[in-house]
Amino acid sequence: MAAEQKKVVKPWGGVFTEATDALFEQFSESVSFDSRMYEQDIKGSIAHSRMLFDVGILTKEEFEAIERELLAIKERIARGEMEFSTQLEDIHMNVETALEEKLGDVGRKLHTARSRNDQVSTDFRLWIRDAIDRLDALLCGVQKAFVGRCDGDFDVVVPAYTHTQRAQPVLAPHIWLAYVEKFERDRERLADCRKRVNTLSLGAAACAGTSLPIDRTKTAEYLGFERIAANSVDVSSDRDFAVEFAFDMAQIAIHLSGWAEDWIWQSTVEFDFLKIPQAYSTGSSIMPQKVNPDSLELIRGKTARVVGALQSLLMLTKGIPLAYDRDLQEDKEPVFDAFDTVSICLALAAPIVAGTTLKRESIAARLDKGYLDATSFMEYLIRQGVPQRSAHGIVGRLVRKGIDSGRALAEFSLDEFKEECPLVDENVYKFLGAVNAVNAMKSYGSTAPDQVRFQIDSWKNKLGL
Ligand code: ARG
Repeated sequence: MAAEQKKVVKPWGGVFTEATDALFEQFSESVSFDSRMYEQDIKGSIAHSRMLFDVGILTKEEFEAIERELLAIKERIARGEMEFSTQLEDIHMNVETALEEKLGDVGRKLHTARSRNDQVSTDFRLWIRDAIDRLDALLCGVQKAFVGRCDGDFDVVVPAYTHTQRAQPVLAPHIWLAYVEKFERDRERLADCRKRVNTLSLGAAACAGTSLPIDRTKTAEYLGFERIAANSVDVSSDRDFAVEFAFDMAQIAIHLSGWAEDWIWQSTVEFDFLKIPQAYSTGSSIMPQKVNPDSLELIRGKTARVVGALQSLLMLTKGIPLAYDRDLQEDKEPVFDAFDTVSICLALAAPIVAGTTLKRESIAARLDKGYLDATSFMEYLIRQGVPQRSAHGIVGRLVRKGIDSGRALAEFSLDEFKEECPLVDENVYKFLGAVNAVNAMKSYGSTAPDQVRFQIDSWKNKLGL
């Protein structure tokens, strides 16, 4: 392919007396992936040239011609009509060369007071800023899917598990809102990362700034950047914002993975709590009865590559000296891949969450197995004046008797309770059984029905439902 390309003059070729090796050219190109940032590149160039006009470096006519042609190039790229040359390395030099082809010397003025080092950083920041906004909307979609289930599932009591062993009973919406909280923290993290992403790099030029009379406040204003990087050496080596963004995506993937794992086992015949929609399941080529939750398994599996992206960026930036080094070109592919992966996982999660059915009868049939009410019983004893450690021992001994005689705690007679602890009275039965245990809850943030109702309402309010 490289052999078919016409020989191009490198924008930086003045000092060179030898041509670039073709294999090295292929090795070092980035346009095959950074062309994804063409809109950001053009937006940055228009802002930069507008600023150059503001400070008198470009005339009005020159700026207008540059803006017009850059917009035309953007359209050409959008229509798929622009052929990128790997000999021109990256999106930046491809766009600039296309501009020069149209405008000659006027096009050759665009790169005034700018280097690709501050240009690529600017483009990447603009791209990540958009990506953050898109992820925020997708996260919000998953939150809405969970909150949207809460009213319909309000009366369903399910076991909460610790160590994957039955622990205490909770309302199903309390579980749904647990995921909503996790995704809310993901949104907060992205919003926080966005502040640091939203910093202007342009004007740092190669590493030292420029002797030309630029106005960085104008460029920042045109691009909607809230801050201006205060140190040109720092900003040309800074990829913290990309690493942070990769972490935020890894955390989202890990949250999705935990949810997928929960729902995979809860949809087994052994659990029989959930039915995942068939639209998000696949069958087996040999076992005719199979309906497998492949969507959830893939969501869990894709976490690996998203965490891998974070790992790549950390390794990439470890030991990079100050200012720009070409290694940094390796920052984009992991970020793009992680973003694509997390985006599709979130886009699938929303309809899976909304479309999954709770198998109410099956859940209810086994709800009073596993002594989910033991803690409720213990807290009743504490209210009766028994010290916590003693109450724990009393309930433990009664649970042991229950296991030996195949009974739930609610099936014990008052005399049997009194034998173990004389402070027990007939009110004890109000706290036994999974549903009573849920209703007995009181604390803020607990599964008490009024607490859960309060949380559902505040989430509805927050998400505009
Ligand atoms: N293709 C490069 C990248 O993506 C652009 C910056 C190159 N700068 C340089 N001095 N070689 O990082």
